Amino acid sequence: MRKQIVAGNWKMNNDLSQTKSLIDALKSKTKTSNAEVMVAPTFTNLSHASSVLKNTNVEVIAQNMHFAENGAYTGEISASMLKSIGIETVILGHSERREYFNETDELLAKKVDAALAKGMRVIFCFGEELADRKSGNEETVVGNQIKNALFHLNAASYQNIVLAYEPVWAIGTGETASPEQAQDMHAFIRKTLADKYGDNVADEVSILYGGSVKPANAEEIFSKPDVDGGLIGGAALNADDFFAIVNAF
Ligand code: PGA
Repeated sequence: MRKQIVAGNWKMNNDLSQTKSLIDALKSKTKTSNAEVMVAPTFTNLSHASSVLKNTNVEVIAQNMHFAENGAYTGEISASMLKSIGIETVILGHSERREYFNETDELLAKKVDAALAKGMRVIFCFGEELADRKSGNEETVVGNQIKNALFHLNAASYQNIVLAYEPVWAIGTGETASPEQAQDMHAFIRKTLADKYGDNVADEVSILYGGSVKPANAEEIFSKPDVDGGLIGGAALNADDFFAIVNAF
C-alpha cells in the first residue's frame, strides 16, 4: 500500500522564534488520519526543528541540498550535513528552485542520485507552467521532467522516491487545479512510471499534489484515487490549517 503524505514546505519564512511558535502549535494538534506528516523549515532552523520534533509524528525534512559530498560550494548544504542533524528526507526540484536558481533536469538528476546514495528519501517536484497547459502540452512537459531527472534510476530506487506534481500556475496563486485535473495528471504520471518500470513500482509510488491546497479543498483533492497527499506551501504556515489538511484524509 502506498503511503499518504502531507508535507508542509515553509519556504523562506519564519525566523527562529517564529519557527519555535509554529512547532509548539503543531505539537498541540491531534492527527486523526493515517497520513505521514512532514514539515520543511529553512536551513537555519532545521537543526532546532529536528531535535524538538524527534520522536513525534511530524518528520522534519529539508527544502533543498547540493549534489556534492562536500567541498568548495559556498552557501551550499550536503546530504551528509542533513543526515548529521537527523534529516532523512529532502525536497528536490521545486519550481521556485527551477525558476529562480536555474535548476535543470540534469542538475536535479545529480541531486537525486546524491540523496539516494546517502539513503535519503526524495520528494521530487515537477509541473507545467500556465503556457504549457494553455497550449495542451502539460503531459509532454511533465513526462519529460520525470524522464530526464528520474528514468536513469533502477526500480528499487523508487522505494525512496515520492513524486509531487505542482502545476506552476497553481503555486501561491490561490488557483488550484480542479480535483479532475489533478487526478488526470496523476494517472498520467503513474502510467508513465508503469510503462517504464511496471505496475508494481508505479502502484507503490506516492504522488502528492501541490498548489494552493487549503482546508476547504483538501478533502476533495485527496479523495481522488491517484492523489496520495499534498505538498503544502502557504497553508502550512498556520498549524490549524495544516492539521485540517492532514486530517482531510
Ligand atoms: P502553495 O505552495 O500551497 O502556497 O501554493 C505549494 C508549494 O509550493 O509547494
